[in-house]
Amino acid sequence: MTEYVYNDNDSTMPALSAKFASRVGDSSGHHEEAFHSMLELLAHAISAGAMIDVGCGMGRTTAACAGIVNEVVALEPDEARCNYTRDLVRDKPNATVLQQTTQQFIAENPGKQFDLVVLGMVIQHLPTHLCDAVLADLATLCKPGGLTVVATTHALEKARCFTHQHVTEGRLLSQISREAFDAYAADTDHQDKGLPVRRFSRSEFESVIPDAFEIVHWGQYSYFRPEHIEHFAWLHSVEPHELANTGNSQYLVLRRKRS
Ligand SMILES: C[S@@+](CC[C@H](N)C(=O)[O-])C[C@H]1O[C@@H](n2cnc3c(N)ncnc32)[C@H](O)[C@@H]1O
Repeated sequence: MTEYVYNDNDSTMPALSAKFASRVGDSSGHHEEAFHSMLELLAHAISAGAMIDVGCGMGRTTAACAGIVNEVVALEPDEARCNYTRDLVRDKPNATVLQQTTQQFIAENPGKQFDLVVLGMVIQHLPTHLCDAVLADLATLCKPGGLTVVATTHALEKARCFTHQHVTEGRLLSQISREAFDAYAADTDHQDKGLPVRRFSRSEFESVIPDAFEIVHWGQYSYFRPEHIEHFAWLHSVEPHELANTGNSQYLVLRRKRS
């Protein structure tokens, strides 16, 4: 059990999602389709093994993979979201949902390792020291030679920043220092500007990956729909044309080194 509270109920997600497009097929599908179809492919590749979904939220990855993978463990520190996911997969005996952090799970299950480790859209909300610690835990949880997938925000190199979910100004006026972000992200009882949001550039994202991993693949997804590109250009404080081929999210597929 943890004291952590996630200060959002995802009620604004449908309106936000409508601003993004998939570039799979005719773009009429879900804007995260490229990421989720890649995850399902990896789940099929290790279907006889075990996977862990760290920070499972409302359980979409957990539920999808529980129908594919022999053993699925999901960790979620927020009580309400953990219970939601537990209920979602109650008819899947191969899925275990725990209200735990990686630190707690590792302490209670020393030596337990997984063929596939997933950390989807979590690290951008964490204080920077906790981001580094959770990523290090992924290396502990992943079998040597196994795969780990991490997804997060994506911004142009010049637009990477620390900010908040609810902003009324573009990046140049709404970005905060790393120290201010760390303090805000650590205090989940007083997040009056919504979730803390760290917009990672690709190189910054790659730089926080522990040495225990080799980077196998980078991808981006959730492209800005043309009719909303001006808004996101304002939000990121860049020119609209610079976002034409930039996904709002990115992921890395990592292989755990054998030694
Ligand atoms: C944006 S949601 C993503 C949920 C899910 N992975 C998905 O892709 O739908 C971020 C989740 O990370 C969880 N979280 C926050 N701190 C965490 C931590 N230290 N370790 C793991 N998960 C954490 C939050 O409670 C929240 O459910």
